[in-house]
Amino acid sequence: MKKLLGVFALLCLLASCAPGRQPVEEEPPALTVIGVSQLGSESGFRVANSESIRSAFSEEAGYRLLFDDARQKQENQIAAIRKFIQQQVDCIVLMPLCVTGWDSVLQEAREAGIPVILVDRTIETEDESLYAAHVGSDFQWEGEQAAAWLEDAFQDAPGPVNILHIQGMLGSSAQLERSAALEEAVDRHESWTILAQLDGDFTQAKAYEETANWLDSQPGRPHIHALYCENDSSAFGAIQALEERGYTCGEEGVRVISFDATRQGLACCMEGRISLEVECNPLMGPLVEEVIRTLKEGGTPDKHYYTRERLFTPGTLSQDLIDRRPY
Ligand code: AHR
Repeated sequence: MKKLLGVFALLCLLASCAPGRQPVEEEPPALTVIGVSQLGSESGFRVANSESIRSAFSEEAGYRLLFDDARQKQENQIAAIRKFIQQQVDCIVLMPLCVTGWDSVLQEAREAGIPVILVDRTIETEDESLYAAHVGSDFQWEGEQAAAWLEDAFQDAPGPVNILHIQGMLGSSAQLERSAALEEAVDRHESWTILAQLDGDFTQAKAYEETANWLDSQPGRPHIHALYCENDSSAFGAIQALEERGYTCGEEGVRVISFDATRQGLACCMEGRISLEVECNPLMGPLVEEVIRTLKEGGTPDKHYYTRERLFTPGTLSQDLIDRRPY
């Protein structure tokens, strides 16, 4: 049998080398071109999100990725989208910095016949057909989980509950929805007070500076029962400012709530300095790739895909879990 196959292969080779015949060279399949407008690299979450997108859209998987980092500026994102339109990409992936101001540029993409997928955050628009799908976290759910934990933790509190609130980048869907959940919970409890809302901008440096300045501007030493930080990076900055001024973060001191659950955040939680970590999963690349495949095959994806997320408290963590955390 082997001998027969060998003779057959030789005959095929001779036939393909016969005068007038060229060996057939197989064309590699054309790559699908994806333009990604990432909003920046402000946090551990964001770095992991970019990596997840880059590895899902590799050349081996059939993609050419044009990646633009907008460095926290909406005008840079709009310029990147316009460039992707000129380059006639097959699809645009947009992590929108803030919720408003997208309609015109998304209309331009639609007129060029290029579908847009929103990733991570959402936008506010009258015309939902401006984007094909959204893949990201349910920030409202995350905020509600944090508020429910606070209600539980302070249900027997005899006196007032003073909360210091470090907000994320103002006007982003992650900030708006996480802030709204806390504000609604505060409205439900007469004894709860938000001492201050500081702009942490989702970064460690800004949260540190704002918290330190606020603490130093207070006449006495404010009694803070809870610190609600809208991501890990800002929690690290605010905790540092508090600890430098003699506060203890943990069960016997300020109860800290944070979002993201990065490896570093979880380590801080296992130490007890963060009391609750609400996960915000950045590993969206495979899901985004699936949505784009559906579009390529002529299908209609769902409008929203939410990543599955969990809550962590010091008692639920182990070093092994933290070591295995991919981000
Ligand atoms: O949009 C998600 C948020 O953006 C993450 O919680 C935060 O870390 C990031 O910067």
